[in-house]
Amino acid sequence: MTEHKKEFFMRDPWKFDPNFKRPARANDELGFDTRSLHAGFHPNEDMERFRAFVPPIVPSMTYPYRDFDHIPYPVYARTKTPTADILEQRIAALEGGEAAVTAGSGSQALFNLIFTIARPGDNIVTSLYTFGEGYKQAASIFPERCGVNFRFVEDPADPKSWDKQIDTKTKLVWVETPSNPTLYVTDLKAVAEVAHARNVPMMVDNTTATAALQRPMDFGADIVLLSITKFMAGNATVLGGAIVGPEDLTEDIRWNTTEFVGSIMQPFDSWLTIQYLETLGMRMDKHSFNTQKVAEYLTDHPKVKLVNYPGLDTHPQYELAKKQMKSAGGMLSFVVEGGIPSARTLMNSLKLIVHAVTFGTSRTICMHPRTITHEHMTQEERDIAGIDDGLIRVSVGLENYNDLIADLEQALAKV
Ligand SMILES: Cc1ncc(COP(=O)(O)O)c(C=O)c1O
Repeated sequence: MTEHKKEFFMRDPWKFDPNFKRPARANDELGFDTRSLHAGFHPNEDMERFRAFVPPIVPSMTYPYRDFDHIPYPVYARTKTPTADILEQRIAALEGGEAAVTAGSGSQALFNLIFTIARPGDNIVTSLYTFGEGYKQAASIFPERCGVNFRFVEDPADPKSWDKQIDTKTKLVWVETPSNPTLYVTDLKAVAEVAHARNVPMMVDNTTATAALQRPMDFGADIVLLSITKFMAGNATVLGGAIVGPEDLTEDIRWNTTEFVGSIMQPFDSWLTIQYLETLGMRMDKHSFNTQKVAEYLTDHPKVKLVNYPGLDTHPQYELAKKQMKSAGGMLSFVVEGGIPSARTLMNSLKLIVHAVTFGTSRTICMHPRTITHEHMTQEERDIAGIDDGLIRVSVGLENYNDLIADLEQALAKV
């Protein structure tokens, strides 16, 4: 357990240091699957405290003082618990960051980060290739309520486009890759170079790929945003998120934002996630395998206008995705001929595939971004971001892919 960190309260805010190098960790040399099983808790090391093979769940929300002068840590479950501590260490180890702080959801993790690092008059540079709740924070919540503005780059494939939007008030460059829901792939190394040349940190949302398939910090990211709700937990039983980065930043978030808006992930959700992370590598391999099969099937279908999947050699950033990712991941989207009426018929006809708002689940899910997650974008923004009226997002699960293709086949026949 780390020592008490309450000294971070009201300390000078975190300042980006482009030369920051996180200190080496004991298990750095271990492979991804080994770290997903051992980082943050090992029975042999924790013998005295727990003498348990499985990481413990400690549901207490307060942690008693031994005596008047003792300062316990954790002190209160809004900011830390022993179970969340294991999870945070594990996530940091998987992403290759120094530390992590969890949040009640991925959307909250993004909110906490921006609220911690930006002040009225500051700005954040991003693109229109972001998840819906992220776009809403950027386009409306932060500008209107906190005076923090967001600048959307014109051409995210062009590093100069990113550079053009950065000025002395820019506090963060935010990249989501592959993006939800159109699977746009951004060149992490190129954007990191631009951001660092202007002394600005780069945050990468690694929710769709996870550290099993992509490690943004290996390409220059300083901060990683995660929705744990998706592939990391993997079956729609947990809501959670995290920020990975320098400990000075994660503790600034914990003590100066999370402390007041509450809270980190609670013990049971943390514990479930620890169990689920044990199989993340295996699951992501199968998600990628299945998604490739479904993407190839859809590509050949006459009623499908376009398939977005970075594993297809027709994807505009196919080569870039191969450089940045181990495999292309578990999400695709496609455009059905005939816009909203066709999307409605198709989605109403699916029998196995479930229509619901999330992704990264063991069971296959579909969703209509135009009407559900990206409804607040202007039509012009949707056109730029590829949110077509006929766009359907599919999070391909762990079923036998032939059954998924058969379900899509019979539903497309009704269109
Ligand atoms: C890429 C991405 N990041 C973050 C989030 C937010 O995660 P949560 O649903 O846990 O708030 C989402 C949600 O859809 C997402 O798609």
